[in-house]
Amino acid sequence: MTILKIATIGHPVLREVAREITREELASDDMQRFIDDLVETMVDANGAGLAANQVYRPIRVCAIWVKDNPRYPYKPNYPLTILVNPKLETSGEMFDNYEGCLSVPNLRGVAPRFAHVRVRGWDRRGDDVDLEVKGLTAGTFQHECDHLDGKVFLDRVTDTRTLTTWADFERYHLSGFIDRARAIVAKYGS
Ligand code: NI
Repeated sequence: MTILKIATIGHPVLREVAREITREELASDDMQRFIDDLVETMVDANGAGLAANQVYRPIRVCAIWVKDNPRYPYKPNYPLTILVNPKLETSGEMFDNYEGCLSVPNLRGVAPRFAHVRVRGWDRRGDDVDLEVKGLTAGTFQHECDHLDGKVFLDRVTDTRTLTTWADFERYHLSGFIDRARAIVAKYGS
């Protein structure tokens, strides 16, 4: 497996609307190897998710996996999930989510997200997926699927005064957000 290079903000590939892939493309050795590399790269960088265009491949594939994540200690665990050609349906209330992104180094900010998401698409075998996720997990799904539409979380930040470096997040915002994150998990589940 290979650790792929991650594109950072300013690179045009992050602003491209990624294209759908066919079941034949998905079944190819090349694509299956790419998905392994995408997961490996996400794990290596401690990401909670990674979209294919973040590693310079503008196709509608993303990975999500939260397992005791040191970058997001307040996020509920969520099993490794590969989404191919995902379509999101958002509903419910919105909540304020403190987000970061491997493509936006050393910056976090508050993005309002829907508390409820239904996602339909395929898994890596091309089988149909129909999932419902809530709260912080719903935030992660919206963040990753935004990437496939050429959007980054900064586009969703409504109050730029919430922007912070990681060091200052830990210094000034983490303990307050941990309380809010617990309340979000308690209210909406995951
Ligand atoms: Ni991101």
